[in-house]
Amino acid sequence: MGYALAGAARHEGHEVCLVSGPTSLDVPEGVDFLHVESAQEMYEAVRDLQRGVQVAILCAAVADYRPVAVAEQKIKKGEDDLLLRLERTPDILGSMRGEFGFAGVLVGFAAETQDLLTYARQKLERKGCDMIVANDVSRPGLGFDSSMNEVTLVTRKGELALPVDTKEHLALQIVRHVIDLIP
Ligand code: C5P
Repeated sequence: MGYALAGAARHEGHEVCLVSGPTSLDVPEGVDFLHVESAQEMYEAVRDLQRGVQVAILCAAVADYRPVAVAEQKIKKGEDDLLLRLERTPDILGSMRGEFGFAGVLVGFAAETQDLLTYARQKLERKGCDMIVANDVSRPGLGFDSSMNEVTLVTRKGELALPVDTKEHLALQIVRHVIDLIP
């Protein structure tokens, strides 16, 4: 969805920087690109890039946890169960308003398997977003690892359900609605 949004925003004539973890997707033409490897690197890249930006759309499926320790060598198997200790990664979207002082239009994503709109509305308030793009990831064939998606745009003014479509078409509609939020 991030690549489709970057392409759509560029298509609409905007200057775009796409920050992405590893994927096999082609970077859309005319889009600046910053490759990151970890949640921490994405946090630092977004922190440093957001100054003066009019619109930030955060849609990466960032890992919420990372291993506390990374083994330097292969972990050999033993007789016992292996317990991995995980710690939280930084919440990039949740850092935008307070920690980073981002003042532009802020858009987050919410992928849920239940109570989609309730969680989306809570996230909108909690993270100081202007829009949450909510998608129900319990639907087979839509969302993750698919070229199709179905989303609902949640803003303070209300909700707008966009029917199932390609990510490219949805991205264009999302970008147009987001641009309308610029004061
Ligand atoms: O709270 P939750 O992780 O469900 O919210 C999803 C939103 O938060 C997405 O916009 C995603 O890009 C963003 N996110 C983030 N930093 C994380 C995890 C998710 O910015 N560590």
